[in-house]
Amino acid sequence: MKKIIITGANGFLGSTLAAKLQQDGYHVRCLVRYGSDAQLITDPNSIYYVDYADDEDMKAALAGYHIIIHTAALTKANNEATMNSTNVGLTKKLVSLANHVSSIRQFVFISSQAASGPAHFGIAKKEEDLCEPVSWYGRSKLKAEQAIHASCQKPFTIIRSCSIFGPGEKDFLEMFKLIKHHLALFPGYCSRRLNLIFVDDLVSLITLTLDNPKAFNQTFNASDGIQYTMQQFAKNMQRAMDTFAVFVYLPVWMLKVGAVGCEFIARLRHKSALINRQKVIEMTQPHWLIDTQKAQKILGFKPQWDQTRALKKTYHWYKEHSWL
Ligand SMILES: NC(=O)c1ccc[n+]([C@@H]2O[C@H](COP(=O)([O-])OP(=O)(O)OC[C@H]3O[C@@H](n4cnc5c(N)ncnc54)[C@H](OP(=O)(O)O)[C@@H]3O)[C@@H](O)[C@H]2O)c1
Repeated sequence: MKKIIITGANGFLGSTLAAKLQQDGYHVRCLVRYGSDAQLITDPNSIYYVDYADDEDMKAALAGYHIIIHTAALTKANNEATMNSTNVGLTKKLVSLANHVSSIRQFVFISSQAASGPAHFGIAKKEEDLCEPVSWYGRSKLKAEQAIHASCQKPFTIIRSCSIFGPGEKDFLEMFKLIKHHLALFPGYCSRRLNLIFVDDLVSLITLTLDNPKAFNQTFNASDGIQYTMQQFAKNMQRAMDTFAVFVYLPVWMLKVGAVGCEFIARLRHKSALINRQKVIEMTQPHWLIDTQKAQKILGFKPQWDQTRALKKTYHWYKEHSWL
């Protein structure tokens, strides 16, 4: 039986991935930091608490496992150094451990479209295109990818995902909450295009790479292959929730001022702001588009979820879990 270890397994993607892999018959070990909330993990027996800074602890955790799927990351931080210390530092550490633990035969890294950067002139970015990240987050993900290329001695696979939505996700949850109150907010006035993916489709793509020599030492973009505007996404959300919302377009200067305010409050609370100046930089890029033909051709990836149906599943999950 394939034994898989997942970092960040209590997070949105990690927990969904763990549940699906277990359903598919894999033996899964869910790495969780001591003291962290592990409520999203469906099988408590799979939880393994670790101190990522403790090499002996980590070697013991990895021993006997075949594949590491590294999902742990910071998507928001108050400064670039903090972002790098997790997204780059932890990745380097795991690569080094994977090199030394003989049972490990593949390192799968969940990267982001943010590493390649926004699409110029609306042309979807391919994996081999020049990477031009625009945010701390994007730069940290790119540096992590570069560290893997430079030092991973085991076969590795890098998956650059676009924005993910689904049960357990906390950022789009805020949009669901606003739409529940009949309001949809958009940055600026122009119709930006972007890709999105339902978490179950992303999990299927990740599964296709496991122990698959065609995926070794390769990078794959991940999206459902459709270009949306945020307005279309909001309309699908309304359909899924069977409600209506008034669309309000916020000028970019207002977003920037709001972001500074959110950052200030977040600092007082020792937290990271949901909307910060880095997010505004990302949100106000013309287009976030990636080309997924490589995953389709090489892995046979076919997204299965219609967006409205996926949003309906997400909405019901939020309601069942009293998140909405
Ligand atoms: N969500 C998206 O739209 C999206 C899009 C593209 C790529 N991705 C990538 O997908 C992966 C999963 O994202 P997600 O949305 O599932 O994020 P998430 O729900 O915020 O989960 C992040 C996970 O990383 C762990 N983590 C954070 N800082 C850590 C540290 N210093 N040391 C060890 N673990 C740490 C968290 O553990 P604690 O609970 O202990 O903090 C949590 O388990 C990330 O690599 C992200 O970059 C996400």
